[in-house]
Amino acid sequence: MAVDIKSRKRDHVESARRKNVEYAVSAGFEDVRFVHQPLPEMAFDDVDTECRMFGKMLSAPIIILGMTGGYPQAAKINAKLAVAAEREGLAFGLGSQRAMIEKPQLASTYKVRKLAPTIPLIGNIGGCQLEKYGVKKVREALDIVEADALAIHLNPLQEVCQPEGDHDFSGILEQIGIFAHDLGMPVIVKETGAGMSMGAAVALRRAGVSMADVSGAGGTSWSKVEYMRSGSEPVFENWGNPTCVSIATCSEVIETIGSGGVRNGLDAAKCLALGASFAGAALPFLRAKEPAREAAAWKRDLKIAMLLTGSRNLWHMRRARLVVSGKTAEEMKRIGVDVNRYTRR
Ligand SMILES: Cc1cc2nc3c(=O)[nH]c(=O)nc-3n(C[C@H](O)[C@H](O)[C@H](O)COP(=O)(O)O)c2cc1C
Repeated sequence: MAVDIKSRKRDHVESARRKNVEYAVSAGFEDVRFVHQPLPEMAFDDVDTECRMFGKMLSAPIIILGMTGGYPQAAKINAKLAVAAEREGLAFGLGSQRAMIEKPQLASTYKVRKLAPTIPLIGNIGGCQLEKYGVKKVREALDIVEADALAIHLNPLQEVCQPEGDHDFSGILEQIGIFAHDLGMPVIVKETGAGMSMGAAVALRRAGVSMADVSGAGGTSWSKVEYMRSGSEPVFENWGNPTCVSIATCSEVIETIGSGGVRNGLDAAKCLALGASFAGAALPFLRAKEPAREAAAWKRDLKIAMLLTGSRNLWHMRRARLVVSGKTAEEMKRIGVDVNRYTRR
């Protein structure tokens, strides 16, 4: 069983690194434009991007999202990304810890705390595995890696496109509620690239979840990865709720992380202005030769966007004026988002 998970995870990382695994449909960032402020009335160095996550300081509200663990190469990837996150003061997510729960000797491939002593470290498990493992086992796995929070991932699209995947998604919400109540650390619920809906966000908030990571359509497409592996017709490769729409709808009811096709610091700034508390990404950091340099560029670009919107700190950034147009505005309006509020505020 664990051997299967190991080779599948390796396949996934290799495909993501080398092949075109991204959605053909857009996350929507090109439809989101900041209103330029030609009189920022502050120095670039005065722009403050610092914030807190789970009681720890971040130099910017950016997360390198969970991707891997459970085989030797994964240990190297986790180490490299964790070092980059620590150096740049960002949060870091581990990939699904299922492999280490099944085979405890694989725990070392997730253990990055010594390399990243100060940043928020986010553990990870699939929604489909919650009932099987239960709170105690998952908490043990989180304690072994010294995590600050748990991300529960939802990936029904990927699982149904995967012949050997989990095909039973019943009872997950109830389990999420149990984990949110009993785990004793914050619970994030994240999609993995197909986005969140308002209904899901309401349900997660009622279940006691701390944050929803929308991981919307427009970035890595997991159904595309699975189609590449199986060779079947890619009917659902572009299925999902685009990232910008997911952020705008879900942020009305729960604290959100904006991710899915976020590709630079300007996209991250747009996530914040649309309502997210943090922005996250996986693929760009996996592919970066020097993830710390990539992270530094994102921080700089976020800071430039803040200066050019007259946003001295993140409180102001989240209220910066935006014009949302095109397909993204159309879809937001149909779902009931008051698109003009971004421009009038
Ligand atoms: C190689 C790879 C492996 C991933 N593995 C996991 C995982 O184990 N758990 C999880 O919650 N998300 C996983 N994801 C999903 C990402 O965390 C993220 O939600 C998604 O890729 C969208 O972000 P992106 O467009 O920046 O890649 C993985 C993504 C990639 C690229």
